Amino acid sequence: MTDIARNMLFEPGGPLRGTVAVPGDKSISHRSLMLSALAVGESRISGLLEGEDVLATAAAMRALGADVQRGSDGTWRIHGVGVGALTQPETALEMGNSGTSTRLLMGLLASHAVTATFTGDASLSRRPMGRVTTPLGLMGAEFTTAPGGRLPLTMRGIVPAVPIEYRLPVASAQVKSAVLLAGLNTPGTTRVIEPVPTRDHSERMLKGFGARITVEREADGTRLISITGEADLRPQVLAVPGDPSSAAFPIVAALITPGSDVTVTNVGMNPTRAGLFEMLRAMGADLTITNEREVGGEPVADLVVRHSQLTGIEVPPEMAPSMIDEFPIFFVAAAHAKGVTRTSGLDELRVKESDRLALMAQGLARIGARVEEQADGLIITGTDGEPLGGGNDRPTIAAELDHRIAMSFAVAGLHTRGGLLIDDMSPVATSFPGFAEMIAGLRGDA
Ligand code: S3P
Repeated sequence: MTDIARNMLFEPGGPLRGTVAVPGDKSISHRSLMLSALAVGESRISGLLEGEDVLATAAAMRALGADVQRGSDGTWRIHGVGVGALTQPETALEMGNSGTSTRLLMGLLASHAVTATFTGDASLSRRPMGRVTTPLGLMGAEFTTAPGGRLPLTMRGIVPAVPIEYRLPVASAQVKSAVLLAGLNTPGTTRVIEPVPTRDHSERMLKGFGARITVEREADGTRLISITGEADLRPQVLAVPGDPSSAAFPIVAALITPGSDVTVTNVGMNPTRAGLFEMLRAMGADLTITNEREVGGEPVADLVVRHSQLTGIEVPPEMAPSMIDEFPIFFVAAAHAKGVTRTSGLDELRVKESDRLALMAQGLARIGARVEEQADGLIITGTDGEPLGGGNDRPTIAAELDHRIAMSFAVAGLHTRGGLLIDDMSPVATSFPGFAEMIAGLRGDA
């Protein structure tokens, strides 16, 4: 892609109208490929997100011995090798921007007789991996890492691995999943204690593939997840629902742009992912959930959203895991609300693809929003529906290799006075191919 294509202008235009479907869920897509690669026989996946992050997982599963093919109809066919039978990759596993690929694959490989090197881009190479190497080290895997426990990293898996009981020190579905995936090829029962529930796609899908996995809930909400190895997984036919984290962008774009009326179809509504929709409705969003159904073991619905006058709220910190990836775009919604929106308990946002608290605070301030950055959240005083940005002011926002920062400011630009430039839209290809075209289509600009 040329520099011209990376640099993109988002400016005010007409309302957003129409019906769109967003690409497949990123979390479910990664897990579909990984578990299919471990099931003996052919699995078929439709609706797979064909973004760079998921393609990095597909390439890794091929490098580890699975047969992974994309049919001309968009269905993916995977011939898995069986739990325990992944083979030594010949070269380093290139993870690009994808933390999920890296952390989940480290888990999968920790209990295989494989030595693997993981490399990634500048953003991924800054992200903490100690949260995964610690529990996997307790299971017997060995690691050589760059300073600070970061990528590039080489892992020596162990057979047999040792089953552990691990209490998650951070609310992280990636850490939970890494330990559970390591448990697949570990004799005995591996347990994860999860004090704050995070997305449960791994648990649902492991069960669907036939793993022996149980989830117990304690009175205080703590979840005890147990998986017993060594597992035999059965191939599956999977349909990946649309990603609620991607649906968030056209939804907030419609909410803040006067005259808008948008339907997003086939959106995953797993309760561990749907916190944004709940909070937007609490702010007064005209957001209707229709046609509720089940796709591939996950609740799915169509969402109808119209431009709305939002009111600021206080987001309870316990909501954080169920909308963890949606805070950047939520902050854009808050910047247009009437009154103050307060968020807290968001320390994890500082170690995502970028420091999302800092970048959102800086970028929103550049387009005239009133933002106070705190250690673990933002306090935003909204415009009461007025557009952001000064008269002729057309700032450039640096996306810092973070797809969700790029898309959040792209949406913000639609309701500014003078528009804004995103310096590099290329990271959007990691999770939402066709994002800019979708927005243009909804505005009738296509
Ligand atoms: C993910 C878990 C979350 C989320 C990420 C995807 C997953 O990360 O931010 O985009 O698929 O398990 P953490 O586990 O670091 O919270």
